[in-house]
Amino acid sequence: MACSIPVVGVLGNHDYECGQPQEVARILHQAGLKVLDGEAFEIEGVGFAGCKGFIGGFGRYMLSAFGEPEIKSFVQAAVDENLKLETSLRMLRTERIVVVTHYSPVVETVEGEPPEIFPFLGSARMGETIDRFEGVKLAFHGHAHRGAYEGRTARGVPVYNVAKPVLNRDVGVEYALFEV
Ligand SMILES: [Fe+2]
Repeated sequence: MACSIPVVGVLGNHDYECGQPQEVARILHQAGLKVLDGEAFEIEGVGFAGCKGFIGGFGRYMLSAFGEPEIKSFVQAAVDENLKLETSLRMLRTERIVVVTHYSPVVETVEGEPPEIFPFLGSARMGETIDRFEGVKLAFHGHAHRGAYEGRTARGVPVYNVAKPVLNRDVGVEYALFEV
């Protein structure tokens, strides 16, 4: 493996495009990456919780399970992914926790994208879940390539959009280092 430190990550929507996310996860696992899909992982006293997450919007504009079965199954997918996040958070007993998702848990870090697609960039359900767990010190996500680097949950947990184009353009770096 090219990287000598532990690597934790989650799958993104592109990893689902060919209908074989398990195979993608298996290959990444073989390369040494710990893929979180509702599991918890601990590295030197820091807990990592995460999953891909899903979309559906933010705040009072979040899509609700009303009307056609298609809308209900769409919303159910967001609820199910959020349950995975909750499960992984519940498993951790560490004082410091980092959350990793593909989609954004807050609206602030998708700002910069066209407002019309905000609901397709993340879900506030995940932000609410993060805020229920005191130990969460940081949250990271990707997906919103034209979004903003920094945001916060309602409780004040720092959220970073670490999509590569955002790191390159807004911060001028290839990767970022954080102390938890
Ligand atoms: Fe994505």
